[in-house]
Amino acid sequence: MAKPVGSITRGTTGYNRLRRCDRWIAAVHGPMLRRAARPLVVDLGYGASHTTTLELFARLRRVAPEVEVVGIEIDPARVAVAKPYEREGLSFRLGGFELPVSRPPALVRAFNVLRQYDEADAWRYWDALRARLAPGGILVEGTSSENGRRAVWAGLSPDGPETVTFSARFDAFERPSDLADRLPKTLIHRNVPGERIHAFLTDFDRAWAVSAPYGAHGRRQRWLAAVEHLAASWPVPRQAPLGGPGRWRLGELTLPWSAVS
Ligand SMILES: C[S@@+](CC[C@H](N)C(=O)[O-])C[C@H]1O[C@@H](n2cnc3c(N)ncnc32)[C@H](O)[C@@H]1O
Repeated sequence: MAKPVGSITRGTTGYNRLRRCDRWIAAVHGPMLRRAARPLVVDLGYGASHTTTLELFARLRRVAPEVEVVGIEIDPARVAVAKPYEREGLSFRLGGFELPVSRPPALVRAFNVLRQYDEADAWRYWDALRARLAPGGILVEGTSSENGRRAVWAGLSPDGPETVTFSARFDAFERPSDLADRLPKTLIHRNVPGERIHAFLTDFDRAWAVSAPYGAHGRRQRWLAAVEHLAASWPVPRQAPLGGPGRWRLGELTLPWSAVS
C-alpha cells in the first residue's frame, strides 16, 4: 500500500464533540443520503478514538438506514484502537487525503483535521477531496472548540465550496465574532478589514448588539432577531433545509460561500 497522503497530527477528540455538525448533516444532506444507492460516508481524521465516527454512524442511520460509514486515520495506532468497534456498516482503516475507499463517497466529513495544515495545503486538499466525491456528493470540512460548543464548517460540492455554517451554544459566546477562532483554514487568515468574512462578522456583531432588547426573552430570541436583521443585507437562506427559524433557533446560521469568500 502507498504511503497515506498527509501527516499525523494531534488526535484530540471527545464524546459528542461534533454533534452540532452531525445534526446539520442529517437535516440538510440526509435526503441525499437516503436517495443514493449504497451511500458511502467517510469520516476523515477521526482522532484518538472511534467515538465521533460511531456517533455520526448512529445519527445518519436514523435518516438513511442504508448508509455505510468508514473512518479513515493516518495514524496506524489510532486505527488499531478503533478496529474493535467495527460492526455491520461501520469500519475503520488506515489512509489519508487519497481516501482509500472502493467507491466514490456521497459524503466526506473532515473535522479538526485541516486546521493543522497551512492555508495553501487546505485549498489543495479541498480540491483533492471534492474530486473524489460521488456526483451530487458533499464534503463537510470544519473546526470546533474542544467541547463542541462552537463550530464553523464549509460544505463543498464536486464543483467547489457552496456554504459556510456558524453554530454555537447560546452560552458559549459573548458576540457572534467569537466564532472567528473556529473559521476553516481557508478563511481564518482573511478575517481582516477589507475582506468579506470580516465585514460579515462585524455586521453580525452589530445585529447582535441592536437585538439586545430581545435578550429579555432569552439568547435564542436574540439570535433569531439578529439573524433577521442580518438577512436584510446578507443573502441568508430563509428556507429549509439551509435556513429559516427551524435552523436558526438551534444557534446556527448558514450562508452561501460566495457571500464571504
Ligand atoms: C484533532 S484530531 C480530530 C478528531 C475528530 N475528527 C474530532 O474532530 O474530534 C485530527 C486527526 O486527524 C488525523 N489526520 C491528520 N491528517 C490526516 C490525513 N491526511 N488523513 C487522515 N487523518 C489525518 C490526525 O492524525 C488526527 O488523529
